[in-house]
Amino acid sequence: MKINDLIKIIGWELINPFVLKRKRNKIYDFPSTLSGINIGCGIHNPSNWLGVDGGFTHYLIHKIPKGMYKLFFSGQKMVTNYTFDEYYKLSKSIQLVHHELKYGLPFKDNSIPNIYSSHFLEHLFRADAKKLLEQCYRVLARGGTMRICVPSIEYEIDCMQEAIEKYKTKNSDDIQQFITSDTVGFNSVYSDHRYMYDYKRLSEVLNDIGFINLRECKYREGDLPDVAIIDTREGLIIECSK
Ligand SMILES: C[S@@+](CC[C@H](N)C(=O)[O-])C[C@H]1O[C@@H](n2cnc3c(N)ncnc32)[C@H](O)[C@@H]1O
Repeated sequence: MKINDLIKIIGWELINPFVLKRKRNKIYDFPSTLSGINIGCGIHNPSNWLGVDGGFTHYLIHKIPKGMYKLFFSGQKMVTNYTFDEYYKLSKSIQLVHHELKYGLPFKDNSIPNIYSSHFLEHLFRADAKKLLEQCYRVLARGGTMRICVPSIEYEIDCMQEAIEKYKTKNSDDIQQFITSDTVGFNSVYSDHRYMYDYKRLSEVLNDIGFINLRECKYREGDLPDVAIIDTREGLIIECSK
């Protein structure tokens, strides 16, 4: 095992959970100048939104010098779409609350004007996701909008069917990604998908919690402020209000 892989494992599996646990009960004031919170923001977050993410790399980027950061993290999976400098600049610029989202949301009731989340909810088990959506309901201000984007299970199934057809013609490359862990680079404890949604499943849970005005939206269209810039990935997108 390479030394920087060992450092990533120690960072993600020992240091990060320890740091997150220590601030588990902390409550943050939401700055009134911002438009809302972006849950599981990763490195995609407009400057007028407050990101909430438990990722070790997003946290560490504010704690250690750039050269040291590059040494440890330049090869990791989430960097693959960017050069290291692009990734570093994006990540460093984000206003971030470093927080384990399975612990709930560290804000007061009715204090958040809007909530956004993209390609995050599927990283939680179904029960944890429901608890987090209940927390979203608790912190969202009346009249506020919540917009959730998740990878569409229907799209994934279509891709699987295509891969199966290719396999029948002796090309097994595409099916590998569904039946093996043939991924590139370092996988953190946050990498896996734990529950996938279609419109029916996601809208049922939102309805049960009490969200109203549910509607399916197109990419970069909807009522959420900054919708034309905050969406960076397509998928199943639902907006709702409280
Ligand atoms: C696939 S990335 C999505 C990033 C970004 N929203 C986007 O659409 O590109 C998922 C993000 O959720 C964060 N995450 C996953 N599980 C988490 C958890 N239990 N608590 C806090 N953050 C978590 C990861 O650190 C990562 O930044």
